[in-house]
Amino acid sequence: MLLLVALSVILLTGCSRGAYPLDFFPEMHYAQSYKIQEPPSLSAPAGSVPRNVTGGPLLGTLPEVEYTLAQAKLLVNPVSKDASVSAGAKLYRANCAVCHGAAGLGDGPMKDRLVTAGYLASPANLTGAGPTKAKPDGEVFLIVTKGFAAAYGLPADRFVMPAFRKLLTDQERWALVQYIRSIQQ
Ligand code: HEC
Repeated sequence: MLLLVALSVILLTGCSRGAYPLDFFPEMHYAQSYKIQEPPSLSAPAGSVPRNVTGGPLLGTLPEVEYTLAQAKLLVNPVSKDASVSAGAKLYRANCAVCHGAAGLGDGPMKDRLVTAGYLASPANLTGAGPTKAKPDGEVFLIVTKGFAAAYGLPADRFVMPAFRKLLTDQERWALVQYIRSIQQ
């Protein structure tokens, strides 16, 4: 019986439903009960441009500039520290703490599961004791935007740090950079 349970656990963890071998953000629409209630998704008419309420471009939805690592290193954080650290902290708790840990020490609850799943690196320590402090703001922004593997041209199946380009707006990702700086002092 125990063996059977163990076997099904192994088999189930092996199932990949999302983009990653490990589903760390299980999404509601995977559930059959929810799926059948979802309306068909409609595409916007050809040529339409997303706008926010003030008529400006909708950040995060317009095609973004593809920065190389060298270009990204020169970027200056457009959001001020005072205005964004608390928003960044909130975003961090929702999106990053599961891997990087509540205090950014790289010891989140996902840490051991990533190692078992065969990923090469553990979540980085983002505090002043880790490698991120020495990296310029734009490089950190690029890692959060594209994911670790894509930022450095490494194999995507060995490095799990996800790309947040489609999940968070530019401003939110820059606010996270400000928050990471604030825990490095
Ligand atoms: C699924 C786990 C996971 C999540 C969620 C995650 N990370 Fe990571 N992160 C990693 C891992 C693992 C690494 C080490 C490189 C690798 O293996 O991809 C890393 C690396 C990094 C690095 C580079 C560290 C360095 O200096 O080398 C930064 C910065 C970072 N993450 C920030 C974030 C932020 C900000 C979020 C939330 C928006 C986040 N991460 C969410 C797993 C995760």
